[in-house]
Amino acid sequence: MCGIVGYIGKQPVKRILLEGLKRLEYRGYDSAGLTVYAQEGFQLAKTVGRVANLTKAAAKSTFPGTLGISHTRWATHGGVTDANAHPHISSDGKIALVHNGVIENYADMKRFLTTKGYTFSSETDTEALCNLIAYHYAKETEGTPDRTRFFTAVRKSLLHVEGTYGIAVLCADCPDEMVGARKGSPLILGVGTGEYLLASDVAAIVTHTSNVVYLKDDEVVHLTREGFQVMTTAEYGVEAKIDQVTWTVEDAELGDFAHYMLKEIFDQPASLENAMRGRFSDDGSTAKFGGLNLTPHELRQVDRIVFTACGTAWHACLVAEYLIEKFARIPVEVEYASEFRYRNAPLDKNTLVFVVSQSGETIDTLAALREAQRKGYRCLAITNVVGSTIARESDGGIYQHAGPEIGVASTKAFTSQILIAAMLALYLGRMRDLSYADGVEIVKALKEAPGHVKKIVAQAEHIRSIAAKYAQHADFLFLGRQAMFPIALEGALKLKEISYIHAEGYPAAEMKHGPIALISEQCPSVFFASSGEILQKVVSNIQEVKARRGKVILIHTEDCALPDGLADDTIVIPAAHDAALPVLATVPVQLLSYYIALERGCDVDKPRNLAKSVTVE
Ligand code: M6R
Repeated sequence: MCGIVGYIGKQPVKRILLEGLKRLEYRGYDSAGLTVYAQEGFQLAKTVGRVANLTKAAAKSTFPGTLGISHTRWATHGGVTDANAHPHISSDGKIALVHNGVIENYADMKRFLTTKGYTFSSETDTEALCNLIAYHYAKETEGTPDRTRFFTAVRKSLLHVEGTYGIAVLCADCPDEMVGARKGSPLILGVGTGEYLLASDVAAIVTHTSNVVYLKDDEVVHLTREGFQVMTTAEYGVEAKIDQVTWTVEDAELGDFAHYMLKEIFDQPASLENAMRGRFSDDGSTAKFGGLNLTPHELRQVDRIVFTACGTAWHACLVAEYLIEKFARIPVEVEYASEFRYRNAPLDKNTLVFVVSQSGETIDTLAALREAQRKGYRCLAITNVVGSTIARESDGGIYQHAGPEIGVASTKAFTSQILIAAMLALYLGRMRDLSYADGVEIVKALKEAPGHVKKIVAQAEHIRSIAAKYAQHADFLFLGRQAMFPIALEGALKLKEISYIHAEGYPAAEMKHGPIALISEQCPSVFFASSGEILQKVVSNIQEVKARRGKVILIHTEDCALPDGLADDTIVIPAAHDAALPVLATVPVQLLSYYIALERGCDVDKPRNLAKSVTVE
């Protein structure tokens, strides 16, 4: 939510800021702005709407500087207006600030600052912090050397903040300084030669350098063109560790695809391979993970697992529940992170907690992690973003290695999460009762998944033609049984978020207990079916829909024996083992949602009201 880019160096800053914002636009796209340091004061451009609007607005002046900050906004406090767009400038003109997060005590700050003569021109919480820094800057004693006065003012101000922030700050008196800080919202420092960047995400940094410092909560960084210094808000010096980013610029490029979502759907054969690389035992009967930080003995003591996450990642947890209970026979519970953190869920001592998050920054998931750790539980994470807060704060975990996911609708991150869930189920199962032969069969099935996904994406045109038939319907049901139920939920979420069609996911048999009332020619149902004991039950559910003139799109494995004319439209996927099936069943609904949204003229990569990484509660 909100993207920040700041730069200090020798290059003209305007282009760097605009390019960086473009790469972070998926974090929020209500408005955008930038400010560049100039001798005569801050040069500012802000506009409602996309970064493209800002690029036009900024083209009207030269912005000649080499120091600047910028922002793309997902509105929290205050409507989508030019005045509320960032950067904000203090009323005395001294401080410029961009912010990602929420200043909860901004009203108190505003009251205090008003008594000190500061004025406000926006409805944002951010402007209160901006003026507070200006207040502390003005208050710093004459005796404080200039070099630290600005840095000290920022640190002092942050001690008064309740809430979350990732910030980049400039001072009108300091042509060679930039300050950044974070608490609860990500901020990464890019370390170049004679140039430094601050950004909410490495995507805005990789074009300049692969050396980064993942700032931690309560850390404040002081940047000049000669170097940087990190301290805590409480004035302790911090030895910053420089990490190497493994993502390349190309990973975050659109290439020949029309949208990131489509690119990421087509990336899946590769992202699935990456999730598995080096993670099977030599005898090919189980999985292995390097970063769990638990011995096999400790893992065998686990008698219950709690998974917690939000949105699509929560659906991945439901798949994990099904697979782990089936193959490892360990009871699993799945909790919404936003609920888990506020309720006093009883956990017993042999419970292991898993948090799942593509971004590793989702605030509710992070808070759930912290709450479980506070209670003393061992918490592991499945995350995609290396160095993210959840990755750093968990006690161990599994990286997804799916590469950057930029489309707001999660696709390749989900399939990589559920593939990892299958590997985890296999690993835990083989420590218990799952036989060698069953293990070998599962490993083989998982290794075949990327090839099967290639065959499914090759049906894109067929799926597109189905999408064209159904795109104007206002309601959809997604119905599946067992592990296909979470895929039904995921299909409904995908359709909702990018096409704004009302869609609901249900266990297929549950339909009779209420949702069947929605069935009509106007409300199509997407069903999932695979061969096996449950197939005839799904066929009956489909017939119940057909009997009520409901239209049916059926996604089924090629080995299903089905009555002729059962469904109005079908998408056939390769037959696969239960461990791999959820991955395969997901891909057609991703494509169906994508093409329906396209038919409806929706902005697929930037759906209304959403942002990629939800860092506010
Ligand atoms: O980064 P996370 O996996 O923690 O994100 C969780 C949800 O915000 C995310 O999955 C969201 O539901 C997506 N828009 C789904 O496509």
